[in-house]
Amino acid sequence: MEHLVSPSLLAADFTNLENEVTMINRSEADWLHLDIMDGVFVPNISFGFPVIKAIKKVAAKPLDVHLMIIDPDRYLNLFSEVGANNLTVQYEACNHLNRTVTEIRNLGMKAGVAINPHTPVSLLKNILPYIDLVLVMTVNPGFGGQLFIKESYNKITELRKMIDAGNYNVLIEVDGGIDTSNALKLIESGVNVLVAGSSVFSSKDPEGTIRKLKRLI
Ligand code: DX5
Ligand code: ZN
Repeated sequence: MEHLVSPSLLAADFTNLENEVTMINRSEADWLHLDIMDGVFVPNISFGFPVIKAIKKVAAKPLDVHLMIIDPDRYLNLFSEVGANNLTVQYEACNHLNRTVTEIRNLGMKAGVAINPHTPVSLLKNILPYIDLVLVMTVNPGFGGQLFIKESYNKITELRKMIDAGNYNVLIEVDGGIDTSNALKLIESGVNVLVAGSSVFSSKDPEGTIRKLKRLI
């Protein structure tokens, strides 16, 4: 299967959001990754509903929304209303994960579960039949521009085996410290979706970097 690229807008120029989203529209990106942070689950606050709504007006690609918030159940409906296509919740923030992902699917979105670097993939065994994607955090969530954690390769290999053994229709997405130097090895380890923030938006040619991540050149 051809892999997907989901640039993370967190690293974009927020004074120029429309142009940044238009650049993504033109590019070979498949999804647009939006990071929602509440200052409680992670030590940072990003942006919320009014901003997502504005982005949706100009975005041509599906919105890949990553919630780094506690108690996400309170907001699932609202994220659907503002146009999220994929909604990913953090495993560590959900007491009733099965209920949460079922509700996400009932609202017509793809359901994702993100795991922090310290969370073993084995804990996902019983949720895999109910979800569309697993987002493996390859940095500690909260900030862009951090160093990729190398232990992640082992987690991805293990998760790929679990998904294939159960014949589940679940994508593996990676997020944090992804660039053109580790993308190929990640895809070879079984990843389906690359999220990239700083490596795209801090590069001289963001559109060209997306193309490189897509074509792995
Ligand atoms: C981190 C976010 C990421 C972030 C990635 O908590 O979930 O999506 O934007 O940024 P980079 O690619 O710069 O590590
Ligand atoms: Zn993210």
